[in-house]
Amino acid sequence: MPAVVLIGAQWGDEGKGKATDLLASRLDYVVKFNGGNNAGHTVVVGDEKYALHLLPSGILTPGVTPVIANGVVVDIEVLFEELEALETRGVDVSKLRVSANAHIITQYHRTLDKVTERFLGKRQIGTTGRGIGPAYADKINRVGLRMQDLFDENILRQKVEGALDQKNHLLVKVYNRRAIGVDEVVDELLAYVDRLRPMVTDTSLLLHRALEAGETVLFEGGQATMLDVDHGTYPFVTSSNATSGGAVTGSGIAPNRIDRVIGVVKAYTTRVGAGPFPTELFDEWGDFLSERGHEFGTTTGRRRRTGWYDAPIARYTARINGVTDFVLTKLDVLTGVESIPVAVAYDVDGQIFDEVPVSQSDFHHAKPVYEEFPGWTEDISGARSFEELPANAQSYVRELEAMSGARISAIGVGPGRDEIVQLHDLLD
Ligand code: GDP
Ligand code: IMO
Ligand code: MG
Repeated sequence: MPAVVLIGAQWGDEGKGKATDLLASRLDYVVKFNGGNNAGHTVVVGDEKYALHLLPSGILTPGVTPVIANGVVVDIEVLFEELEALETRGVDVSKLRVSANAHIITQYHRTLDKVTERFLGKRQIGTTGRGIGPAYADKINRVGLRMQDLFDENILRQKVEGALDQKNHLLVKVYNRRAIGVDEVVDELLAYVDRLRPMVTDTSLLLHRALEAGETVLFEGGQATMLDVDHGTYPFVTSSNATSGGAVTGSGIAPNRIDRVIGVVKAYTTRVGAGPFPTELFDEWGDFLSERGHEFGTTTGRRRRTGWYDAPIARYTARINGVTDFVLTKLDVLTGVESIPVAVAYDVDGQIFDEVPVSQSDFHHAKPVYEEFPGWTEDISGARSFEELPANAQSYVRELEAMSGARISAIGVGPGRDEIVQLHDLLD
């Protein structure tokens, strides 16, 4: 079972890090193919808790080769901070490989992210402020810097000059900020060259050879389907393709190599930042989910917006990504809710939609049509088989499965590595 893609099925923070970690002992490679240090994955191993941003979650498992592929935008300072923090905790990070074609986030991208958000005022996206959008904008505008540019100082200088030419006008004249010097940026980047040299390689070829040799590769998505720049709630999205197609363009592996697509979905819904969210709760249930689920961002510490499960979104995710298996996480958080509402359709100004409407205006106006399912009160965190779950928890899972467009193959019953109920093998 060589190539498996794992993606977020909602608006992020579904528990992708934990799901990757669960599979990691059976994997040879874990590849990050999109996004950058806007991601935040919390992985709990025994008493140890790890918060990963730029690095793929597979880095925590000995034997796995972690790969940062071409689709990622890399803040090199953050890369070394994260590597050093893991090394101090005894994690072997020597196997990490980084694509020569991955783009670089520099200080001017971080600055632009913050000032453009401020200028948007009420129309803010609520970005993580990590420079993600501006770095991808440069990539598409063909003025980006790639990892391979670091190894040719002349080219690097020319490219930084080209990029800053335009940006300094913008920074000084529009945003009233100081101009950024070419030397400042070049020197900062060159300081990392020696440490980067052994890591930077043709990761597309590396992964191709691994798959040819029958090794198992997991492509771990950052962000999620509803934050995808093409298929999410544009413009309230991130700037990359977080869907399974992004694993192909973001790594240089052909689409016909992908064997399975795992969608990670929470038993309810959360969102960080601005944008439409039909099942969002503003009452005490919203506080309940947020507190019980510890819904505070791993990256920015912001309180996540919370709401009930949205079945049309799960169906949409299953369709866009070709999901073969869902991992349903955080079922334990719903323990004690007497009757659990699930959105089965939307009411848009009197018209019923069974699927996610293509028009953003319709989606903004969508009111959920709820069906309610009986809850349970028993602690489920000790369950390790489906039969050990209370009858009502079993039927809640079966109802979600029937509405969501793919089988549910694993269920999270707590944050720990082993707090999981497996129904089907995710890799086979
Ligand atoms: P990611 O960005 O998709 O990797 O998800 P995050 O790590 O940002 O957020 C998921 C949070 O839920 C983390 O704090 C996990 O430790 C936690 N978590 C994952 N699965 C479960 C589960 O089944 N139950 C509970 N209670 N927590 C979980
Ligand atoms: P993981 O991988 C949740 C959101 C931000 C903002 C929008 C754009 O942990 O699931 P950006 O900085 O990417 O330009 O911000 O996307 N966002 C996330 N929300 N989880 C994430 O990652 C996110 N990465 C970005 O809050 O609304
Ligand atoms: Mg997260």
